[in-house]
Amino acid sequence: MAANKKLMFLPGDGIGPEVMGQVRKVIDWLGDNRALTFDLDEGLVGGAAYDAHGDSISDETMADSMAADAVLLGAVGGPKWDHVAYEKRPEAALLGLRKNMDLFANLRPAVVFDALIEASTLKPEIVNGLDILILRELTGGVYFGEPKELVDLPDGSQRAVDTQVYTTGEIERIVRVACEMAKKRSNKVTVAQKANVMQTGVLWRDVSQALHDREFPEVEMSQMYADNAAMQLIREPKQFDVIVTDNLFGDVLSDEAAMMTGSLGMLPSASLGAADPVTGKRYALYEPVHGTAPDIAGQDKANPMATVLSFAMMLRYSFDMADDAELIEQSAKNVLASGMRTGDIMTPGSQLVSTTQMGEALLAEMTKLTS
Ligand code: IPM
Ligand code: MG
Repeated sequence: MAANKKLMFLPGDGIGPEVMGQVRKVIDWLGDNRALTFDLDEGLVGGAAYDAHGDSISDETMADSMAADAVLLGAVGGPKWDHVAYEKRPEAALLGLRKNMDLFANLRPAVVFDALIEASTLKPEIVNGLDILILRELTGGVYFGEPKELVDLPDGSQRAVDTQVYTTGEIERIVRVACEMAKKRSNKVTVAQKANVMQTGVLWRDVSQALHDREFPEVEMSQMYADNAAMQLIREPKQFDVIVTDNLFGDVLSDEAAMMTGSLGMLPSASLGAADPVTGKRYALYEPVHGTAPDIAGQDKANPMATVLSFAMMLRYSFDMADDAELIEQSAKNVLASGMRTGDIMTPGSQLVSTTQMGEALLAEMTKLTS
């Protein structure tokens, strides 16, 4: 029998540990009911790691994460660590994981669940059936470009610099993923850039178009300025299928797309590296799109769905276990359809439940669907 897959759990801060707890239950369920077992390891990340040993991730936890077959992360950060030195802030751990594992492709699906249409701030006819994928470049651009500095000037004022850099290769590899994913969806890729004001935008436009013409002529590709994309997302989101964009625009557009679904607490994400040509191993980190929600942390109020659905993405993309992924996803839909809601997606007439109750309802539904 093949060795168990090694999973690294990094619950992080705020609601991270409690939502992650529900994934543990799902894993136990898979062991009991599907004879599917994993080797689980766990480490500290973010503010939790900083409080324990003065850095947002230890070398050991970084090494364990890189040795795992896949990493599941809760969330990092919070007001408690606002004044921590820039290199040691909780977010630095996340950026370090992304960079060290070269997780260049960040998949952020924005899907409107039928049961949650009322939770969106947009009109139902604008969002019903919405299913788009934001593909964000995750290891380049202004997040990592050098110089990156905040310097004191002689007159006592300061000067800050962040640098937006992209190379042909960095753009090609993410656009290639976009085209491949689009072929399995509605075959449309929109490249969001600012070729009207940025040289990197010109490169994004030209490289993506050339790659399309060369390798994916059958995919429909369009170019759109990122500000217009932000506007079009609100105006007519269903015109999009896959949106591929740089690190910073992707950060912004994915939050916008996520909130249109009315349920930040529902949305999973995957960050993938390239497959190793020899071993076939692909670095992968899965995490909910939402943050640490410090206001409700530790109160058993958070929505565990985004993290559970991130685990389902792990089963699909890292382990080729599409059936088990679908079982989890279908159970999530059914639980919502039954009217259960955590506070973030609560609407009048629904049943308000806790994190734990939501997790248990999910397991009950998985049992029901498989018996
Ligand atoms: C995200 C987050 C991160 C980012 C933060 C926490 C560093 O906003 O994953 O979208 O800006 O990439
Ligand atoms: Mg963000």
